[in-house]
Amino acid sequence: MPRIDYFTEANSVEAVNARMGEATDPRLREVMAALVRHLHDFVKEVGLTQREWEAAIDFLTRTGQLCDAERQEFILLSDTLGVSMLVDAIAHRRPAGATENTVFGPFHVDGAPELPMGSCISLDGKGESCRYTGRVLDLEGRPLAGARLDVWSDNSEGFYDVQQPGRQPKWNNRGVFVTGPDGRYDFVGIKPVSYPIPDDGPVGKMLARLGRHPWRPAHMHFLITHPDHERIVTHTFVSGDDYLTSDAVFGVKEALIVDYRKATAGDTTWQVDFDFVMVGARDD
Ligand code: BEZ
Ligand code: FE
Repeated sequence: MPRIDYFTEANSVEAVNARMGEATDPRLREVMAALVRHLHDFVKEVGLTQREWEAAIDFLTRTGQLCDAERQEFILLSDTLGVSMLVDAIAHRRPAGATENTVFGPFHVDGAPELPMGSCISLDGKGESCRYTGRVLDLEGRPLAGARLDVWSDNSEGFYDVQQPGRQPKWNNRGVFVTGPDGRYDFVGIKPVSYPIPDDGPVGKMLARLGRHPWRPAHMHFLITHPDHERIVTHTFVSGDDYLTSDAVFGVKEALIVDYRKATAGDTTWQVDFDFVMVGARDD
């Protein structure tokens, strides 16, 4: 009769991983085996108590219960634990000079109106006006025609339109712009403000217990696509913001911090110029 290894504290990892069937997909096998190993090592390292295990189950249950089409508390958990940025960093190791990615966030909405260059996306008339200009280039510095820039930001009170339906006009501070042969983009929005991530759920409570604040530094979101290039999911951050070094979701990269300027002291509109550099699409 084959020897049966019953589960013990000492052999827990092997006992669980040995159950995987012969036909298990190799990548699934690799990921699950490592997950079980790290999970068991973690439980052993901290000596997880029964009460702590119950608290963890309760936390995860409440996190799941808050998820629906509008709210994704699990992604927020991943964001605040730095996992989203780590997965993105591994997936998008770009050559020097290429624009870096950052977190996508929960506030993008498909179907924002495509607008002519120069249009204003601020529909509520609030906030400090800002003109956003620059080019979309390839790695060799050539302008890219047909690059689609989907942009979105919060309003002057720190809320996205979808967080305040009825209070903000639909598509407030959102728009899509497509570059011509010069690769240039040009639109008017507002100088965004810093805001707290949704912190009324389990993730917010976790941050509070850890002595962490929920704030993100002010930023403008960009999703840039082009038929022959890898998409860029990024932001530009407002230089000087108080939260640049303590972003609740670890999204800040130095190269994405931009200066907001006024051409003359009397100007009412800020100006930001930033070039995006795309990498040729991979064949895989
Ligand atoms: C955002 O920038 O919109 C965002 C990113 C991650 C979590 C919450 C909000
Ligand atoms: Fe945001």
